[in-house]
Amino acid sequence: IERTFIAIKPDGTQRGLVANVIERFERKGYKLVGIKAIVPSKALAEEHYADLKGRPFFAGLVSYMTSGSAPVIAMVWEGKDVIRQGRRIIGATNPLEAQPGTIRGDYCISVGRNIIHGSDSFESAEKEIALWFGKSEVFNWEFANAEWVTSDN
Ligand code: GTP
Ligand code: MG
Repeated sequence: IERTFIAIKPDGTQRGLVANVIERFERKGYKLVGIKAIVPSKALAEEHYADLKGRPFFAGLVSYMTSGSAPVIAMVWEGKDVIRQGRRIIGATNPLEAQPGTIRGDYCISVGRNIIHGSDSFESAEKEIALWFGKSEVFNWEFANAEWVTSDN
């Protein structure tokens, strides 16, 4: 099984895009195995974006994520190729490059307010899920109709 960490950023929550994001992942066939609203601490946000430390926008990015103007909606999604597919559903980092039909392509115009985060690799997904979720907050469960979604033949 493959899992990824997806987070609706405060602008996405504020703009009422939570249901839309969830619907896109659900309809695709992915399984929601963890979800919570959270205002991350500065330490959590800095650790989450540790690889961007030193970039000119880092401080602004951390304060945007931690402001509490709206909570982050943190999620763990599970399914075949969900890490790469999740990135495709989200679209390019810069909304100018994000294709229409993707979340960023459809709903935002600024890289500093790009609505949503998705893990960019297996390693990031593991790190981020462990960072944002306790073990008891992620659930193992099966779709009753799993065969209709996952069969390759
Ligand atoms: P995430 O899914 O949020 O990690 O985005 P990403 O993987 O598509 O991009 P990356 O990890 O490189 O950057 C993380 C986040 O930092 C982006 O989603 C933006 O919110 C922000 N960011 C990246 N580049 C810029 C920039 O040039 N200016 C500003 N203001 N923010 C940026
Ligand atoms: Mg990233």
